[in-house]
Amino acid sequence: MLTMTADRRAVLVGAAAALAAARASVAQTARPAIERLIASMTPEEKAGQLTILPAATQATPATAVNPASTPGTAEEQAALARAGRLGAVFNAADPAWHRRMQDAALASRLKIPLLFAADVIHGFKTVFPVPLAEAASFDPELARRTARVAAEEATAAGIAWNFAPMVDVARDARWGRGVEGAGEDVWLSERFAEARVRGFQGARGLADAQAMCATPKHFAAYGAATAGLDYNGADVPERVLREVYLPPFRAGFRAGAAATMAAFNTIDGVPAHGNAWLLTELLRREWGFQGLVVSDYTGDMELIAHGLARDERDAARLAILAGVDMSMASRFYLDHLPGLVASGEVPVARVDEAVRRVLELKAALGLFDDAFGRLRAPGEPPRARALAREAARGAIVLLKNDGVLPLSKAGRRIALIGPFAGGPADLNGPWTVFGDPGEAVPLDAGLRAAMADASALSVVRGCAAEAAIPGGIAAAVAAARAADVVVLAIGESERMSGEAQSRTEIVVPAPQMALAEAVAAVGKPVVVALRNGRALALDGAVARANAILVGWFLGAQTGTALADVIFGDVSPSGRLPVSFPQRSGQAPFWYSRERTGRPPLTLKPGEEYKARYREALHEAAYPFGHGLTYGDIVYDALDTGGGRLVWDGRLEVAATVRNRGRAAAVETAQLYIHDRAASIVRPIRELKGVRRVALAPGASARVTFMLTRADLRFIGRDLKPVAEPGLFDVWIAPSATTGVQGTFELVRAG
Ligand code: BGC
Repeated sequence: MLTMTADRRAVLVGAAAALAAARASVAQTARPAIERLIASMTPEEKAGQLTILPAATQATPATAVNPASTPGTAEEQAALARAGRLGAVFNAADPAWHRRMQDAALASRLKIPLLFAADVIHGFKTVFPVPLAEAASFDPELARRTARVAAEEATAAGIAWNFAPMVDVARDARWGRGVEGAGEDVWLSERFAEARVRGFQGARGLADAQAMCATPKHFAAYGAATAGLDYNGADVPERVLREVYLPPFRAGFRAGAAATMAAFNTIDGVPAHGNAWLLTELLRREWGFQGLVVSDYTGDMELIAHGLARDERDAARLAILAGVDMSMASRFYLDHLPGLVASGEVPVARVDEAVRRVLELKAALGLFDDAFGRLRAPGEPPRARALAREAARGAIVLLKNDGVLPLSKAGRRIALIGPFAGGPADLNGPWTVFGDPGEAVPLDAGLRAAMADASALSVVRGCAAEAAIPGGIAAAVAAARAADVVVLAIGESERMSGEAQSRTEIVVPAPQMALAEAVAAVGKPVVVALRNGRALALDGAVARANAILVGWFLGAQTGTALADVIFGDVSPSGRLPVSFPQRSGQAPFWYSRERTGRPPLTLKPGEEYKARYREALHEAAYPFGHGLTYGDIVYDALDTGGGRLVWDGRLEVAATVRNRGRAAAVETAQLYIHDRAASIVRPIRELKGVRRVALAPGASARVTFMLTRADLRFIGRDLKPVAEPGLFDVWIAPSATTGVQGTFELVRAG
């Protein structure tokens, strides 16, 4: 058994408690000194501590990930630091510049060190699969390990604060930023949130030279952008907010995350940056969150464009009063807080509270003891290639296979066709700020290295991601004719997902579809190797291919990992963390949908007056949780342990999983529940556990899950968690629409 649920959670809770204790003790010993500092600070110095700017150094590609801003020159930023008017900088990893900036801060009147932050989203120098791809492993421990390595590499470059993990539940595949999170499911997002926080922050406390403060973002409901359009408002009732969008944040905070970032979007008409209910009432008073709230990039400034604030000064006032402690990129706090305090519009106590949080974080990170501690790492760690390959292999999902896969390494001529067949582009995926693009292994190189005769591989691009190439299709067809099998490397380019990359249709772009149709018409077996940052609605020759692999953006080891799976050195084990619908128009589409009053119980085409589209049933083409292996796995003998879960008791649910195939496999067994009748309409199914089991050919294993009342809770009409007695369906399943099913009853004791 590879991954546990309850046991793993116990470890997580233990680590989180240790981390919280370590942070509390650092903060406690530093507290008197922090209070003395605050008492001696001018309003300008306080505003400075509450300001973070994009690094003004040329030695960073980071400017590419944000809109143009006016960070000023490196000289100007150093002067600000020397004047004690800058709290933090982000997205640069240049030791000389770092030392210069930190020296300037330490030469300031109060010698408060600068905090160096960055977006380390899926690896630092070693680029791991994009977060959505890692979620496809259904293995949070893998994500913890890659986050740990990312932290080791980033801290060696002086970075102490990470703007990750993104924990936004994303159910509309049109939204481009789903690629940064863990997909559509609440339970899975919670597990990945806590694993990544633990990985970034490490187990030795934040003061450790290899610890990097984690920032679950974007608080909150950024993933619920209406119509999947980035920056759109979220139309989310508070009950749904609490049941779906908030739990991964809670999980991240419980794992010890010391910061969070406000979201760009509105909820019920109020942008997060001006939302005192969200950032103060709920986050502070109800949850007791002690960490730092940073704005998103110019998030306070955007209150003007939203129409919530009249002008810059008003925006700064609204943001600080709502609960945004630190302002990113806009300089609004720097420019306006002193005046707002002087006029009494912002109480000095509120500013002091925010400054206290910044200083406590700096103290917890050990910066007051040794501002250069992280930079003292004995050289850059070597690239973690083996882990990058393991993570990439684990992320690949086999959607369908008529037996064409795995391919033989010898004796077959392979035509590798498509815009993602080779070349250094589109391997690392969005939000690769610091990775070395030359390091990533393209697909053609990976295949060639594994083949007995490298000359048996022909490579033709055929078209670009979103444009035809003159003669491209003809060349591709010729290559397909001369080959025994075609590998079609198609999908989305790196720029088609990520921030501000919403799509109206989640399809393979038309020029690539034309290529796919022409190549398929040749009649050779076709293996589709998708590159994608979101769920796609597959159609035509792509949907009809003999095999389909979902390859996401796999990072540094793209080619090697895909070759490992394509040639059968490893059996694919990834599972879909997002449902693949049949058509784009089904978006937003997710598996744990609310039951309607008119479910299409019989799946007869043309059935009237049911919750279905004219053109398609509202079902997935490939459901959440789906993913084939090279084994042949069957589920059997569900045992619901007597079928009674007593109020404070536990219920063991088990099934047998057997590999009747000829290849070894890792099977990801999933536990789903469904509440038959409740005071709130419940989802069709909800994931409650995952177990990964290694199965040799012919082997079987009994997978067991332990359910308690806590697993059956939902947010009730009074906005409080509740579990209600009654009958539940339960499945142990290879996906969200299959599996062996039984029932049990939750009964009150006595
Ligand atoms: C993104 C954040 C990111 C920040 C800094 C913003 O545009 O929404 O996720 O951390 O930029 O790069």
